[in-house]
Amino acid sequence: NADPVTLMKQQVGYAAAAKVQSNSIVGLGTGSTTAYAIQAIGERLQSGDLQNIKGIPTSFQAIVLARQYGIPLVTLDEVEKIDIAIDGADEVDPQKNLIKGGGAAHTQEKIVDSLADQFIVVVDSGKLVDHLGSTFLLPVEVLPMAVTPVMKAIEKLGGKPQLRMGVKKAGPVVTDQGNLVIDVKFDRIDQPAELEKTLNNLPGVLENGLFVGVADIIMVGEVKDGQPSVR
Ligand code: A5P
Repeated sequence: NADPVTLMKQQVGYAAAAKVQSNSIVGLGTGSTTAYAIQAIGERLQSGDLQNIKGIPTSFQAIVLARQYGIPLVTLDEVEKIDIAIDGADEVDPQKNLIKGGGAAHTQEKIVDSLADQFIVVVDSGKLVDHLGSTFLLPVEVLPMAVTPVMKAIEKLGGKPQLRMGVKKAGPVVTDQGNLVIDVKFDRIDQPAELEKTLNNLPGVLENGLFVGVADIIMVGEVKDGQPSVR
């Protein structure tokens, strides 16, 4: 009795997990859609359908899920390459550029996803946009002592910044690396590659959520006439 969005996330997560092959290093993304892929990879491993898989996590969430579903983990120091990465997104444009970081995990995600030979993005159809920034604020991870100057610099670039506050937590969201997140409203992001570089050049910025030219395949979960499918 899951709602349509949950069904789309499940379907696309499972479909991406089916693309993982034995004897591979798999980047494990973050978020509610990727969680279904991690679950399905773990189930394929336990059933013997997959062998010799090692995961590279992108967050504490991915570590916890990998342990729960029995996927052995390794670090980037221990592997020559990442064969495939599966990760979600908050917005996807027609050029396969992304906004990520709704889960505050985009810094580790960008490292892992961009190292993968094949990066598969798993989204429900509600994430598809004509241009980035249409619906989602752009996350920027910042060292705590630099929050104020970075917010001022972002305003000069034409963005409206706000410090991300915790839910079920007093005070701001703290990332897995111990930093803060500024969510920025830009009226329209027309040149994501330039904006990605400009933001990352501000002293104190660790990484922003623009992923330009990183995604190889976009898998989209849909529901038509009550039936979930993937394209
Ligand atoms: C985590 O920081 C994000 O980049 C997620 O990958 C993104 O927010 C997608 O999450 P959902 O699959 O939960 O929508």
